[in-house]
Amino acid sequence: MNSFKYKKNHLFCEGVKVEEICKNFSTPFYLYSSKTLINNFKLLHKMLNGINFLIAYSVKANSNLSVLKTFAKYGAGADVVSIGELKKALKAGIANNKIVYSGVGKSINEIAFALKNKIEQFNVESIEELKTIAKIAEQINTSANIALRVNPDISAGGHPKISTGKKTDKFGIPISDAKNVYELAKKFKSLKIVGIDIHIGSQIRKLAPFKKAFKKVLSFCIELDKLGFNIKNIDLGGGIGINYDTDEQDQKFLIEYTNLIKSTFKNTNKKIIVEPGRFLVANAGILVASVLYKKTIDSKNFLIIDAGMNDLMRPALYDARHIIRPLKKKVKNKTVKKFEVVGTICETADIVVKNINIYKSVQQGDYYFIDKAGAYGHVMASSYNSKSIAGEIMVNKNDYSVVKKRINPEDILKFEKIAPWLKKN
Ligand code: LLP
Repeated sequence: MNSFKYKKNHLFCEGVKVEEICKNFSTPFYLYSSKTLINNFKLLHKMLNGINFLIAYSVKANSNLSVLKTFAKYGAGADVVSIGELKKALKAGIANNKIVYSGVGKSINEIAFALKNKIEQFNVESIEELKTIAKIAEQINTSANIALRVNPDISAGGHPKISTGKKTDKFGIPISDAKNVYELAKKFKSLKIVGIDIHIGSQIRKLAPFKKAFKKVLSFCIELDKLGFNIKNIDLGGGIGINYDTDEQDQKFLIEYTNLIKSTFKNTNKKIIVEPGRFLVANAGILVASVLYKKTIDSKNFLIIDAGMNDLMRPALYDARHIIRPLKKKVKNKTVKKFEVVGTICETADIVVKNINIYKSVQQGDYYFIDKAGAYGHVMASSYNSKSIAGEIMVNKNDYSVVKKRINPEDILKFEKIAPWLKKN
């Protein structure tokens, strides 16, 4: 399923030898496989078959327009959290009635834009937000489709920085308060209650938290039905975890997750919305880098590469482990030793991978790639230390194209100016 494979010791992305791309583009750059994106989407689609569902791709995982367009062509919807993501989703051709809008801090401007574009639903996260949406909808003489994002108070496990479903997290409305908030929503003529929403966290690798959350949502929905609310969408959020250590996508967990959805909701006639991000894009992208230097301090070996926390934040922010491999496997001098692979940023946290076997004979200019970097990679990149922001390249069969240019320091300088008073003597 993954389209990054070694052929005769050289890494290929679909039909393209990655070293060939390196001849034309300097590192670091992100490289995506359109085939893997499509395969991931089709697989999830197939597994949900049998129920009424919508896959609303969570744009935050990778918002490159060509990635969005690839999914749009297969009928994907989108989960967006800003006007920027919404504009990108619309530009990529994702239908407005397949777009859900999440996030705790939607601004007035963002709400008005989403209303004008008649999105499928706002996932409302507080009473104040609910009232604001109602007011803006009334002002522009329209009605807003709303779902309440309820917080089921469930610990999803995994890294605390990406857990969202506990009542101490900032997200959603406590499920215990939600009935009153639905009653409140009913009073606004400009609001149309269409759904309910949860999202308990990301990179969840166990079924139990999903099971608990889905059960809670279903029983709450049954209660809402009895009270006469017309809930037509149940949005289950995202969160499917992937295995960062293996080459292949973890199908077993996906089967369990989708079976759970089907068995839990088989008797409802409602539309089940899922918002996967990572699952659809992580293994469809790599980050290609070159070796700059190596050095040994007190028997600890450092390999310094030209990609770091400014390109891929995940290791520094969440202690995430991404495997790094060479673009060209050696046939001679294959002995390895342990290295700490680091980036160029002046921060001790700028570690790309700790304690990993790398060829002893590794040298300046060798190409390496960081695997499964397609999700929360480029979207979280920054120009910290006034570095460039890496470009993005997409492969389709034997062809490839730059889908986002590298942003160079000169480009960033165009946005800055010296304050006028500093120019005087
Ligand atoms: N829906 C909502 C409302 C979300 O907040 C998220 C992710 C998703 C869907 C998609 O979740 P996924 O299927 O990708 O797990 N930067 C972190 C992940 C942060 C996730 C934020 N919300 C990382 O690199 O692991």
